[in-house]
Amino acid sequence: MNFQLHNYQPDTEDLKTVVIKGLQHSPKQLHPKFFYDEIGSKLFDQICQQPEYYIPTVEQEIFAQYADEMIECISSNCVIIEPGAGSTKKIRFLLERMQKNLPTMYVPMDISAEHLQRSAQQLANDYPELSVHAVCVDHTKPFQLPDEIPAHRRVLFYPGSSLGNFKPHEAIDFLQELRNQGGDDSALLIGIDTKKDSDVLNHAYNDAAEVTAAFNLNLLTRINSELGTKIAVDRFAHHAFYNKAKSRIEMHLVSKQEQTLHILQHEFHFDAGETIHTENSYKYSVNEFQTLVTKAGWVCDHVWLDDKHYFGVYFLRAAK
Ligand code: TRP
Repeated sequence: MNFQLHNYQPDTEDLKTVVIKGLQHSPKQLHPKFFYDEIGSKLFDQICQQPEYYIPTVEQEIFAQYADEMIECISSNCVIIEPGAGSTKKIRFLLERMQKNLPTMYVPMDISAEHLQRSAQQLANDYPELSVHAVCVDHTKPFQLPDEIPAHRRVLFYPGSSLGNFKPHEAIDFLQELRNQGGDDSALLIGIDTKKDSDVLNHAYNDAAEVTAAFNLNLLTRINSELGTKIAVDRFAHHAFYNKAKSRIEMHLVSKQEQTLHILQHEFHFDAGETIHTENSYKYSVNEFQTLVTKAGWVCDHVWLDDKHYFGVYFLRAAK
């Protein structure tokens, strides 16, 4: 058996607390990590197939073109750790090209247990020589790693512009946490979206098939099913736009009418048009991103961009 699952999943108590605190907050907000229940994780994989959502395609292009250079940076005899691995599709680009020089262990981490178990088990089946230790955990909090990890170089893998979902100061804290978990000789291969034309960005988060809308609204469906509430999901609408001044996409759930939600002995009043802020996705120029990672104890060794400069993949080394 080359597969093991370590389950440190947060319980629904966490969801309760966060929902109540978030809706008491002004303006109202909910934490995006709760998007990823079983349905949300599947919807997210579908978002990644929408033509307007260019990130996966462009990132793949960069991997396809520069995988050999990336692998050279990584060096063999390492442990690859991927926070928020989800469908574990992206690591396959690297594994395919590593051939006989596979890492000594692959550690995918994700908050969605079933989704992670299925995809990581499949990966372990496809790579019988690779030891896979999947960890179900909320990686946005200080996290625990399995004791079984061998004492080889740790290479962290954080593709898909997931770092963009943190505010810049939180992103620095998170990168520092990765630096601490990784140790002195660690490296970080990370993908981040660049600043670009607002129209392209607005379309990316408002796909015509409305999968992103379904993903956003699923947060309310999840609250209903896990907390036993009766939120009328159809009284809310998806709203996403590029906030140029703050260099971020903002995702909101807009109340279509004045209404009061009843959630576990609490009442939350909404004016018509009032929103719950559910997610941010920050965009960085190459210079801005390099400045950010330096503040978190990383040195940038390489940047790979696509021709249109829509997306960047960076190879970072722990600063001495
Ligand atoms: N981090 C990626 C991004 O910001 C993926 C992502 C997270 C996403 N949440 C999303 C994409 C919601 C679309 C909608 O783009």
